[in-house]
Amino acid sequence: MSAIWMNIWRWPERLMVPFLDLGRATAELRGELDQAVARVLDSGRYILGQEVEAFEEEFARKCGARHCVGVASGLDALILLLRALGVGEGDQVIVPSNTYIATWLAVSAVGAEVAPVDPDPRTCNLDPEKTAAAVNSRTRAIMAVHLYGRIAPLDPLREIAARHGIPLLADAAQAHGANLGGCTSAISFYPSKNLGALGDGGAVLTDDAALAGKIRVLGNYGSRKKYFHELRGVNSRLDPLQAAVLRVKLRYLDCWNQRRRAIAGHYLEAFEGIPGLTLPCDAKSSESVWHIFAVRHPERDWLARQLAVEGVETLIHYPVPPHLSAAYRDHGFEKGAFPIAESIAATVLSLPLHPHLTGEQVEEVVSSVCLAACLPAGAVQ
Ligand SMILES: Cc1ncc(COP(=O)(O)O)c(C=O)c1O
Repeated sequence: MSAIWMNIWRWPERLMVPFLDLGRATAELRGELDQAVARVLDSGRYILGQEVEAFEEEFARKCGARHCVGVASGLDALILLLRALGVGEGDQVIVPSNTYIATWLAVSAVGAEVAPVDPDPRTCNLDPEKTAAAVNSRTRAIMAVHLYGRIAPLDPLREIAARHGIPLLADAAQAHGANLGGCTSAISFYPSKNLGALGDGGAVLTDDAALAGKIRVLGNYGSRKKYFHELRGVNSRLDPLQAAVLRVKLRYLDCWNQRRRAIAGHYLEAFEGIPGLTLPCDAKSSESVWHIFAVRHPERDWLARQLAVEGVETLIHYPVPPHLSAAYRDHGFEKGAFPIAESIAATVLSLPLHPHLTGEQVEEVVSSVCLAACLPAGAVQ
């Protein structure tokens, strides 16, 4: 049967599956969110204050870190962390070649040089062997990224960092609620994250009190005491309204991550053995918090179009690796410089996976992927 006929035949049962449905999460918690927002409005305190402090304490506890410093975004968390460590001109920071560009931009923002390392193709995370080989006398830090919610191999990376006397840091923007292994980590509360605000927000988690203190000062105009400035800081503070919202959502994080795991487990079972489809390497019982369920397919664009016809929205995380983006053209990276990152960018496709998918929508994703897999590539343009 042609793809067109199959779709007409399925028309009455068609269910749309948007990639994300942030409105549904907000609607579900509307009463609690209204109360939290009202609390801030009534407090008369609109910069920092009790709400931010309470969230920092609660989030640090949840993540097993001694300190949490709220900042204005995930990118700022990365930048302020590097600045507080004194990373700057003349230094290099090892970063994965495949990540959201923010990881690289933070290194560039402090005047240091990105030292990209191609990932392990199976996990899409930093490859310890290649990381060890990339360390040189200018390396000031290793920045792992827990891409898609999958924790990078922290133990071997920590060992490499310790051998060279440099810190191992983590961009944990996609890993809320995962075991961060005691690593100083930068977090984003971008709305679509596992723990997302209703706007921008970020934080640094660390066990190092001095580092936390310095980040706090840097993000508050370099000031500990109003109108006394000890550092040339910036304005990057977590908004109390967002802190109040995050305090509500934090109470649901474990439950939402459990739902993500259940959906991921179902996809893994349902898609096993589909020709051409490479599934995420995580076991059903893995520690991943499944920020993104990324499959790979040699005919990725065709598969995405076919799923769109079925009403299933997909995204690509990420279509252009940072070294080939216009933003880094002046660095002179050639095509082919990081072949694994390039191959991931050419084949990766993210399927809808979030805690507010209904059971019916999950089944729609499953049947649409299975249906697409039966068709010859290129059947639907
Ligand atoms: C891996 C990674 N790092 C950093 C960021 C930057 O976070 P933000 O958008 O809050 O600045 C994001 C998300 O957007 C991300 O996915």
